[in-house]
Amino acid sequence: MTNLPHNNRMQPDFGKLALASAADAGVMQKKERGMSVQILDVNESNWRECVELKLTEEDQKYVDRNVFAIAEWKFEPENVLKAIYSNSVLVGMLAYYIHDGKYGYFFWMYHLMIETQHQGKGYGEAAVKLALKDMREVGAKDIRTSADIGNTRAENLYKKLGFEETGILEDSGSKLLRLSQDALKFA
Ligand SMILES: CC(C)(COP(=O)(O)OP(=O)(O)OC[C@H]1O[C@@H](n2cnc3c(N)ncnc32)[C@H](O)[C@@H]1OP(=O)(O)O)[C@@H](O)C(=O)NCCC(=O)NCCS
Repeated sequence: MTNLPHNNRMQPDFGKLALASAADAGVMQKKERGMSVQILDVNESNWRECVELKLTEEDQKYVDRNVFAIAEWKFEPENVLKAIYSNSVLVGMLAYYIHDGKYGYFFWMYHLMIETQHQGKGYGEAAVKLALKDMREVGAKDIRTSADIGNTRAENLYKKLGFEETGILEDSGSKLLRLSQDALKFA
């Protein structure tokens, strides 16, 4: 099939997915009144736009390029890859998958990014909350992630949502963080 020009592509169905309501996420009221965040599937209609999301050079150290995350997910379709929207504007991406192997059985959050111009508005926090809720709804009892040493924003965000340090460093040197059981109950 011929690729349609980007603007002619179907837009994601915003009606189908859960909204993080302002009441649910207090942060939204604090940061931007009327903001609603959604995490929608990455698909034919939005993947190019996802690839084009921009990060500063400094931030590119902390996360793979979106095009890489999309390629990885194409070959590992059991991964869940989401586009983050605020009021229908694409602002970032996140991903998670179930690790069932050498290190045990747990949900692993990876590839969180909010485009530079949209950072600091509560979108990252709201999107991670939605992803945690989705994971809990499909039975997650153990949710882990990691943050590079020095990535204070990511570490603060995860800790704010109830992730705790495990004292373990990954081979890459990143800190392994695990969602507390209390936080999991309320996800
Ligand atoms: C990390 C990242 C996803 C945060 O997303 P964001 O939308 O900017 O963050 P939010 O506005 O939702 O902030 C949520 C919390 O994160 C932490 N945080 C965000 N920006 C911060 C900053 N500049 N300094 C310190 N903490 C910060 C705070 O705990 C904040 O809560 P608060 O506002 O109550 O203090 C974003 O900065 C990003 O994409 N960074 C580059 C890629 C990256 O590092 N990804 C994570 C890989 S592990």
